[in-house]
Amino acid sequence: MDSSTTSQANPAGASAPEGAGQMSIRTRDVDLFYGDFQALFGVSVDIKPNIITSLIGPSGCGKTTLLRSFNRINERYGNVTTRGTIEILGKNIYDADVSLPELRKSVGMVFQRPNPLPISIYENIIFGLRSHTPKPELGRRGDLDDIVESALREVQLWEVTKNRLKDRATTLTLEQQQKLCIARLLPLKPQVILMDEPCSALDADGIERVEELISELRERFTIVMVTHNMGQAKRASDECIYMYLGKIIEHAPTAELFLNPREEQTAMYIEGRYG
Ligand SMILES: Nc1ncnc2c1ncn2[C@@H]1O[C@H](COP(=O)(O)OP(=O)(O)O)[C@@H](O)[C@H]1O
Ligand SMILES: [Mg+2]
Repeated sequence: MDSSTTSQANPAGASAPEGAGQMSIRTRDVDLFYGDFQALFGVSVDIKPNIITSLIGPSGCGKTTLLRSFNRINERYGNVTTRGTIEILGKNIYDADVSLPELRKSVGMVFQRPNPLPISIYENIIFGLRSHTPKPELGRRGDLDDIVESALREVQLWEVTKNRLKDRATTLTLEQQQKLCIARLLPLKPQVILMDEPCSALDADGIERVEELISELRERFTIVMVTHNMGQAKRASDECIYMYLGKIIEHAPTAELFLNPREEQTAMYIEGRYG
């Protein structure tokens, strides 16, 4: 077990129980309802740290719903009831003492369409810090400059943005905007980054470069990515979870799932017989 993982603070700020640290995300028997409609059925899954796990499956099978349950952001999208347990670094995120802002700081999210705020590139990067940090602790201008530079360097945007940090983020290309949306999570030191079809708005070159970036980030974060693109799941992920009708059908290392699926339903899907 990697001791750096067990020593990380969990979303509620308390230390993780002994022995519960090896999985980044651990769910047991999760049922999720939108009103009366059940979208997830008995989902139990263990997601490892420092790899990329892809959620795949036909449209409507619950990929986005499961992803959004990992930082409870789906509660914003309607009348949601969740049963079962979802632990991030050993802490049940549905416990009463969990702070949603803290949870969403440690479990960051990147959406299908890049959604930078209509403010400057610089301000986009420190927006999260500003909203999470009391003013006296925010640091001096020079410290913030360093934070901005290092976040932009990490996503390979520094060279193209260093002379235009005051420009609106929306003047960047879509690929650059999506990289910026990843960069703005980094000052908050997330442990998990959730990505919902992060390349679906990009052209082929943009997809390749953002996939490369995601691959580099896996060294330091747990990444869970929804994709409907099987090529991307094969290229970009270490493990894949195949979902169908709100259930997990199969979870395996990527090569195994594609070359030698255990379940007939998975085989049918990856052969393109449905979905
Ligand atoms: N906010 C919502 N309110 C009601 N039903 C929803 C909502 N979001 C998703 N659903 C339903 O839940 C099911 C799973 O959706 P989703 O998680 O978006 O699937 P996927 O990402 O795999 O396409 C679908 O039947 C969808 O219509
Ligand atoms: Mg979806």
